[in-house]
Amino acid sequence: MKTLAIFGGEKTVPDGYIKTWPPLTQADRDAVLSVFDSNVLHGIAAPQCKAFQEEFAEFLGVKHCLVVNSGTSALHMAITSLGIGPGDEVILPAFTYWSSAAIVLHQNAIPVFVDIDKDTFSLNPDLLEAAITPRTKAILPVHIHGMPADLERIIPIAKKHGIPVVGDCCQAHGASINGKYVGSMETTAGFSCNRSKNLSGGEGGMFVTNSEDAYQFASWMRDFREVPINAESTPHTLAALGWNYRPHEFVTALIRSQFKHLPENNARRYEMAHYMTDKLANIPGLKGPFEPADRKPVYFSYIVDFRPQELGLDIPAPKFKAAMIKILRAEGIGFGQWQGRPVPSMEIFQHHDAYGKGCPWNCAHYKGFANYNPSQYPVTQEFIANHSYLSSLYPPNNLDLVDLYVQGFQKVVSQPEKILEVANSL
Ligand SMILES: Cc1ncc(COP(=O)(O)O)c(C=O)c1O
Repeated sequence: MKTLAIFGGEKTVPDGYIKTWPPLTQADRDAVLSVFDSNVLHGIAAPQCKAFQEEFAEFLGVKHCLVVNSGTSALHMAITSLGIGPGDEVILPAFTYWSSAAIVLHQNAIPVFVDIDKDTFSLNPDLLEAAITPRTKAILPVHIHGMPADLERIIPIAKKHGIPVVGDCCQAHGASINGKYVGSMETTAGFSCNRSKNLSGGEGGMFVTNSEDAYQFASWMRDFREVPINAESTPHTLAALGWNYRPHEFVTALIRSQFKHLPENNARRYEMAHYMTDKLANIPGLKGPFEPADRKPVYFSYIVDFRPQELGLDIPAPKFKAAMIKILRAEGIGFGQWQGRPVPSMEIFQHHDAYGKGCPWNCAHYKGFANYNPSQYPVTQEFIANHSYLSSLYPPNNLDLVDLYVQGFQKVVSQPEKILEVANSL
């Protein structure tokens, strides 16, 4: 039996073996340098910005795309362009990135959280109607870890109540439901292109919509919302509060260059994820993610469920998880914890104070009773406790890396007494 690396044995995955994301090539370098040479560095009518807006809208099959400087900006535009403001409520899942809730608070509106579905870790449609109030002005499903939320059920519920759906697609470029891309089914949606994302430019984002009104509003909003008060008022006058969400041409050129490889990179992630899931089916103690038949995820992150009982270990799953992560890290196999607790359990919600003096909850326009008791999100809590994501299942890494991971997992799970020893030392 091989000695575990944590006890002085040889590492399964050698140092320097794993490649980082995103894969950068000479073509990416040339794309950025072409902006440098053009001397057109920014502008909402600049060539890279205009071209990418058309390309991304065409890819998704939506009427409009606006390139912006981050996913958070895009999401803020996605709710603001629907008229959401003081006193309004927006429903979103308790398991998400903090940004999905922050954009609601930026509008002086109130986030209302619902628990997630245990298999797809996204907003549970069964809990949606109970969370809808007369103040609900949007439902914001998050396609988390690259897994599409159940829009086929969420959108009809939203329609029944006359409420728009806003997509947080920041982790799901190219993910689809029954062949339709996420971002194309919602009223408005936002994508992120920060460093880790399936489509990366280091930073950046895209707002998308089929609505003419939302598009018009978001176009103004991206550029300080300088709109003419009337037909005669030129140059434009500041008619309302706006923001500077304009993109830089270097970044957009890099995103465009990376965008050419989005389908093949997503296909590689999918292949690696499926290969891993098949292998994990025969490795006790670890289980890969479930994939509903109607959905095609893009595996922004690959989720692993930790199951001590399958190894006959009578310890709680979080303790088993912590021990396994420590042991596997020593083997050169990285795991990450994406979100350590439900977003509503954060201080900002517990104290009902986002930007001072109890705002926006004590805003005179708010007539509701938002309650963020963490006990309302048991599935989110359990999901966070029992799962982590397995690092680096993306190109230019390939199936050879998955095979090494499998060897490492087999080496570790064949020694449950060692796992217990590490668990008891924590
Ligand atoms: C689910 C989700 N929403 C929103 C964001 C915000 O995107 P950005 O970091 O580009 O502002 C992210 C990015 O980390 C995210 O993962």
